[in-house]
Amino acid sequence: MENQFKNNAIRGPINSWLLRIISAYMHYKFGEMKRVLFKDHPGTVVEIGPGRGENMRYLRKGTHLIAIEPNVHMHAGLTKTAQKYGINLEIRSLTGEAIDLDDESCEFVVSTLVLCTVEDLEQCLKQVKRILKPSGKFVFIEHVKARDNSVLAMIQNLLHRPWHYCFEGCHTNRDIQPFIESAGFNRLEIESYNLYSVIVPIIPQIRGIAFK
Ligand SMILES: C[S@@+](CC[C@H](N)C(=O)[O-])C[C@H]1O[C@@H](n2cnc3c(N)ncnc32)[C@H](O)[C@@H]1O
Repeated sequence: MENQFKNNAIRGPINSWLLRIISAYMHYKFGEMKRVLFKDHPGTVVEIGPGRGENMRYLRKGTHLIAIEPNVHMHAGLTKTAQKYGINLEIRSLTGEAIDLDDESCEFVVSTLVLCTVEDLEQCLKQVKRILKPSGKFVFIEHVKARDNSVLAMIQNLLHRPWHYCFEGCHTNRDIQPFIESAGFNRLEIESYNLYSVIVPIIPQIRGIAFK
């Protein structure tokens, strides 16, 4: 799927730069849970929307990372991060809705802070499930819609429009969990929590593993 929206000549480089400057903060906020979720990952990992490669520091040196990243403005950063962490990087400039990998060809698919942005979430999860081998894992950390009538929900709704524009299609208030629950995985481990940080719209989150 062609996705011009993810290749905006102004917002693309700005968002790539932003990911770089918040990298240490994201590591501080997410590092521990990522270490737990990614531990025991296999030699090849597929990541949907890796951005500049924030998750590479949690992968073993020498890991083959297949990066499904439609935003070309992220690619130079991805390559740089891969060199830094000794990752064997393969970039595929595709959306998560149009992954070109074979059926049942992967054991481990990762997505962090991406399902908020994919245009067709159902199709993206369909692709994730299609490429996973039986009992393969889909590991995710996503920000989600806040509880109805809460202050966080009000903030998410208020900021949704400018946020969606600036961050190239990100929805502050997407209810992602029901999509994962109805994607047909065999078993799900999902935890809802608030990750308090200065990035208020992304405080409500879910993390977990979907087993094919
Ligand atoms: C907020 S960034 C998160 C980057 C990284 N996963 C992280 O945790 O730092 C969202 C990423 O999803 C990518 N993205 C947006 N739409 C996508 C789609 N349809 N398929 C795959 N990736 C997508 C963006 O280009 C961007 O790199």
